[in-house]
Amino acid sequence: MALTSVPAMVGRGFYNAHSATQANASELARPVLERAARAVPSASPFVMADYGSSQGRNSLAPVRGVLSIARERFGPEIPFCVYHTDLPANDFSALFQVLQSPESYAAENVFSYAVGRTFYDALFPPDTVSIGWTANTVHWLKTIPCTVSGHIWPARGNAEERAAFSAAAQADWTTFMTARAREMRVGARLIVDAGGGDADGRCGAEAALDCLNESLKEHVRPEEHARMVIGGWFRPPSDYPSFFENGWRAPDGQFLKLLSVEHHPLDTAGFDRYLEDHDAHAFALELTATFRAFTETSLVAGLDRSRADKDALMDAVYDGMRRRVEADPRGTVARWDLVVLDIERSE
Ligand SMILES: C[S@@+](CC[C@H](N)C(=O)[O-])C[C@H]1O[C@@H](n2cnc3c(N)ncnc32)[C@H](O)[C@@H]1O
Repeated sequence: MALTSVPAMVGRGFYNAHSATQANASELARPVLERAARAVPSASPFVMADYGSSQGRNSLAPVRGVLSIARERFGPEIPFCVYHTDLPANDFSALFQVLQSPESYAAENVFSYAVGRTFYDALFPPDTVSIGWTANTVHWLKTIPCTVSGHIWPARGNAEERAAFSAAAQADWTTFMTARAREMRVGARLIVDAGGGDADGRCGAEAALDCLNESLKEHVRPEEHARMVIGGWFRPPSDYPSFFENGWRAPDGQFLKLLSVEHHPLDTAGFDRYLEDHDAHAFALELTATFRAFTETSLVAGLDRSRADKDALMDAVYDGMRRRVEADPRGTVARWDLVVLDIERSE
């Protein structure tokens, strides 16, 4: 059976260890987040929501930034609560370990929680959240509308398949914003750090995903390959200003405005280093691990249940990807178009 919902990232801390590209994406959005933190009204407790935190490592710097501004503006006596949310299957143990580690933002009067529930549902009581942050998440769909012929990546599907993903992404954005609008306080801000795509959903990672797809075809059975799909769709960046044109009134009456949209080009982490040292092997290893961290669970879900050799098989699949990337780093590097939205609830 094909997948219908999106699985979480690869566990056992693997995503934390191989998500430098996503960390770089967050760094580019952090000035917008911190500008918003300087503007939101006081609240006690002050609630920050981190939607789609995964294993938490990349959330530390954004939370630390907001915490220090909240402390400066409102004083240490205001309790600061951070809710890291993700899918129930997320590796929350890795998250809790990071929160207890020396690199954590933990401090007196700071309280961290985890929520294991889809962000397409309501996650907080109404009027609770002062600042929301979501990085590298909103391309993951609520439900996967169909499989993709000959490929694992929806943007490589035929016109009908692409239309189904594009329509699902549009509907999901409304669902996501409806839930956020309810839980934001008046004056609260939501910062969305997202990849952008073209009209066909191409996000700049297609050449790398082609390498993965070719390797899969070499290693898995045709009926397994036919079930495999990565449930993401990168919306065209212009969809966001269109959605918020003249503000957006949520079904429950809240009014949201898009205060700013920024764009940043973003290469896969390690590509700068490759351009200097020409170490194609090291670069290919890093790119492949980055892709493995966010694709493997989706692919494994398509394997025959009876397979006993799943780990070894997936090692071989990703090694095949690595070989292809290593043969042509410039032609396969993923180059993303990062879009940073600053959204305010004004009523
Ligand atoms: C690429 S990771 C980003 C993690 C982290 N924010 C970062 O920037 O490194 C995407 C995360 O979104 C989560 N995600 C996908 N769909 C979700 C949903 N419907 N509800 C909550 N989290 C979701 C995934 O489980 C994953 O942990």
